[in-house]
Amino acid sequence: MLKSLTLLSLFFTYCLTQPSLFGNSRVTKTPLIAIYNGGDDTEYRGGWELVSENAGVSAMHMTILPNSNKAIMFDAAGFGPSGISLPPGDCRQVFNERDGYEDQFELDCCAHAVEFNIDTADIRPLKILTDTWSSCGGLSANGTLVQTGGWGDGGRSVRYLSGCKACDWEEHPMSLSASRWFSTQHILPNGDFIVIGGRRMFSYEYVPKVESSNQMYFLLPFLQETTDPVENNLYPFVFLSTDGNIFIFANNRSILLNPTTNKIIRELPVLDGGSRNYPSSGMATLLPIKLNVNDPNSNVIRAEILICGGADPRAGKLVEKGIFVTALQNCGRIDITNPKSTWQKEMMPTPRTMGDMLILPTGDILMINGAKKGTSGWNFAEDANSTPLLYKPDYPETQRFMELKATTIPRMYGSTSIVLPDGNILVAGSNTNYYYNFTGVKYPTELRVEKFYPPYFDPLLVFARPTIVSDYKGIMVKYQSNFVIEFKLKKYKVNHLDLKVTMYAPPFTTHGFSMGQRLLVLGIKGLENVGLGLFQIEVVAPPMAKIAPPGFYLVFVVHNGIPSSGIWLQIA
Ligand SMILES: *[C@@H]1O[C@H](CO)[C@@H](O)[C@H](O)[C@H]1NC(C)=O
Ligand SMILES: *[C@@H]1O[C@H](CO)[C@@H](O)[C@H](O)[C@H]1NC(C)=O
Ligand SMILES: *[C@@H]1O[C@H](CO)[C@@H](O)[C@H](O)[C@H]1NC(C)=O
Repeated sequence: MLKSLTLLSLFFTYCLTQPSLFGNSRVTKTPLIAIYNGGDDTEYRGGWELVSENAGVSAMHMTILPNSNKAIMFDAAGFGPSGISLPPGDCRQVFNERDGYEDQFELDCCAHAVEFNIDTADIRPLKILTDTWSSCGGLSANGTLVQTGGWGDGGRSVRYLSGCKACDWEEHPMSLSASRWFSTQHILPNGDFIVIGGRRMFSYEYVPKVESSNQMYFLLPFLQETTDPVENNLYPFVFLSTDGNIFIFANNRSILLNPTTNKIIRELPVLDGGSRNYPSSGMATLLPIKLNVNDPNSNVIRAEILICGGADPRAGKLVEKGIFVTALQNCGRIDITNPKSTWQKEMMPTPRTMGDMLILPTGDILMINGAKKGTSGWNFAEDANSTPLLYKPDYPETQRFMELKATTIPRMYGSTSIVLPDGNILVAGSNTNYYYNFTGVKYPTELRVEKFYPPYFDPLLVFARPTIVSDYKGIMVKYQSNFVIEFKLKKYKVNHLDLKVTMYAPPFTTHGFSMGQRLLVLGIKGLENVGLGLFQIEVVAPPMAKIAPPGFYLVFVVHNGIPSSGIWLQIA
């Protein structure tokens, strides 16, 4: 690639000055516009707040770091002028192949990754050298972000980022054995990561120890079988099942893989109706895992998968002919721990491609972002689906979906969202253009960041929100141990039946998939009233690492469907 280093004449220089287009990145907080009628089952359909006009980058990838107020956002190294410069003198050489100019070197002084303060919206540029375009990641057992793959020189990279004040990326460009672009990463019970697939990469491997390189990968013919003319098997939906097997969904098929023996355990029924993975870009999640106080004695802990939306497998080819087909509107739900289970179909109120599916602290599912027509790709979608959906997995089938308050900002290709410790949702990114493009296009590259407040933020219900007073910083909670959460609630009496304690593994979100996301509903041992409005709830930690891989979780106390803010807890 770097064939003519002599041609270091720099044709372009990016980001020498901060683009004046954006001004101050901070936006004065606007109060929530509350639309509600009160009552027990809130009529409030959520609220939106614009928290930043300029995050610096269009957040194609996003995650949060434990014990901090930091979200990490980044796109791709070669996407040209972003909205933020690297510190002076920190520019990097990029070899520009994408413009079709031969041998063109550029000096890129833009940052393509930022640390975003979720309280103040302040941004700090981070420096990435290898290209993170369409890569993947996850939080490791000690809270470090481990991030893999990408494009070109980034394909085999493993990158690390910790949460300290001045921390920046540490990159190991030759760590993976294969170049992985559009692959999926997931943590395993032993704390290792599996990385699956990628463009024309019908294999998987385990992230090697720092400083070492993989010599080999494991072939996975299933990925070859599920590819098609537009490669609808990318960013496979990957989840760790409660029996320790890895569920892998590609296009419309799925398997369970044993990561210890590297054997395929079984194939599940086909989910018909269209293609679900990138670029058709449906949404998928593992539904909340419900634990009891005596779980190690029971055999199977149920694990259910929900997959919604996506597109016709030919959607991309049709866009090339100017036809934007309507996205899929149906969902499939299956119990992957029961070999007899089949896909149960449900219909969403509206079609959706490129949405995100997030698990809220309550255990309800949020579907947000995306489009109603088209598929993933630059300029490949129309008709943003601005209306988030709430899905209540335990409600009767016809009553599960509810439409929430719409945003005014289209969030389509390259948009992301994540659940914040407060229980609100950070929504960022969207770039349906080749390069950053703010003028002369129908959907300008989106640098604005919003927060979405789900219905449990109904201003009329503020009094019913619990506040956790316990602090588990620096404490390791052991599997199967009992632990106590102390919380405040403006009530004299609380019934344990109105309470839930949930534990959430925050995901790494990109291209409509939130990798590593998991919510556990803990078994409750006891509840004690220890003072005026002060309560102690004793819960049992998950029994073992295949139920909850080691690492950091956000713990929430949920009272009558209203969650507290989360506290960080590390399980080992
Ligand atoms: C945290 O985990 C990462 C990834 O496994 C590892 O590289 C790093 O050394 C660990 N850090 C500490 C402080 O143990
Ligand atoms: C599954 O997807 C493939 C590839 O698009 C398609 O040929 C096949 O008909 C689909 N199967 C079903 C049952 O929908
Ligand atoms: C933005 O897109 C328009 C329309 O495709 C194109 O004419 C223009 O050159 C693009 N601008 C940049 C900065 O890429």
